Amino acid sequence: MTMSQNLAIRGGTPAVPTDLEFQRWPPVDAQDEQLVLEALRSGNHSGGGPHVRMLEREFGAWNGNRHVIATCYGGAALHMCVAGCGVGAGDEVITTALSWTTTATCILHHMGIPVFVDVDWETMNLDPTRIEAAISERTKAIMVVHYWGVACDMDAIMAIAHKHGLAVIEDACQAHGALYKGRKVGTIGDCGAFSFNQNKNLCGGEGGVFVTDDDGILERAKAVMSFGDMRPADAGREYNQYGLGYKYGHANLPAAYALSGLRKLDSTNAWAIENWHRLHTRLEGTPHLVRPYSAAESPTNGYAYVLRVDPAYASSRSIPLSALTNQIAAALKAEGTAFSRANWLLPAHGVFQAKNAFGKGAPWTHFARPEISYELDQWPVAQDCIDTCLWGINLHRPPNREPQIDAVADAVRKVFENLDDVADSCFA
Ligand SMILES: Cc1ncc(COP(=O)(O)O)c(C=O)c1O
Repeated sequence: MTMSQNLAIRGGTPAVPTDLEFQRWPPVDAQDEQLVLEALRSGNHSGGGPHVRMLEREFGAWNGNRHVIATCYGGAALHMCVAGCGVGAGDEVITTALSWTTTATCILHHMGIPVFVDVDWETMNLDPTRIEAAISERTKAIMVVHYWGVACDMDAIMAIAHKHGLAVIEDACQAHGALYKGRKVGTIGDCGAFSFNQNKNLCGGEGGVFVTDDDGILERAKAVMSFGDMRPADAGREYNQYGLGYKYGHANLPAAYALSGLRKLDSTNAWAIENWHRLHTRLEGTPHLVRPYSAAESPTNGYAYVLRVDPAYASSRSIPLSALTNQIAAALKAEGTAFSRANWLLPAHGVFQAKNAFGKGAPWTHFARPEISYELDQWPVAQDCIDTCLWGINLHRPPNREPQIDAVADAVRKVFENLDDVADSCFA
């Protein structure tokens, strides 16, 4: 019997024992229940509730930010960053081609024009060597994304920003606790955003925070979060809409849940990171597998474990990368472990391909330089990442431990060690 006959897609026994339970993130404990109940009984459910204020204070102390505003979702905090940096209609914001959709759409929310830059293959983060070529007289800011919980090369990016007088926004929505040369992300650029949605290292159901140390950025960001109100906090209510604003503040109940997550974040992060490294070590030397990036200067925060197949293997077999990745995903699923595709090439979204966000082609028709193009051949490295990426967030997160991690490692090794057989199924 050859090894290939063992694959579960070929009728073999799955690598993950069927009686092994995986637990979905996040585990709920007595502290979560106590704080949520306390908030429920507080009778104050508004954005100014006590748990909102505690969350802001404690997040600022934990991350090292002077100003923190809790928001109803991470994308709202990102929009506040864009507004806070003074981006106006037609101003350009340089960002990565590879991220969750909100990274780019929050620029559009403020009539800004996203300019996408390709990524570095190894880190999958914005490639600093390509940024300067994308700067124009309209560029106002660079929005970095610490993708998959790994910090960008911030020294290089900050140096470019300073040279050209640009603001730096940190999309740290996936990167709670991620470090760059020992410094927490969200403290390096001019302002930043974190998300507390279900998948994130800090789960508050939904929610997020806007962070900055800059008083001017704070004032402009606050204006969009509260009905366009530009007046100082002590000016009282006037019921006048001074500009276009939204209701981005967080409610007290979900803030209480996020507060509980924050109070244990160091330990849940440490647990996820330990599991991440166990899986990583066990996958060392797996043929044709590109393991995710984590390095001394930019260590993972344990957000996601991302598998990629070596593109050279697909090309040696004359198989389109994406088709091979689909087969690998199917083979892994049959072995009992689910990794998902990550098809998030930002400029490929319909809104950019049609250049139409607000109807009638706006904001591009009225405000964008005609050279702004979203032709997809401009981001070949990001495209290769998309075509190879399989990501998992629940498998290595608490409360899962060694038995789950080892079973996942066995499944991944088995599939990649039998990749010829998996690849053959592309032709079946
Ligand atoms: C990189 C990135 N940016 C922004 C967001 C938006 O966060 P939220 O879903 O809280 O709006 C996400 C969420 O998945 C994200 O991963």
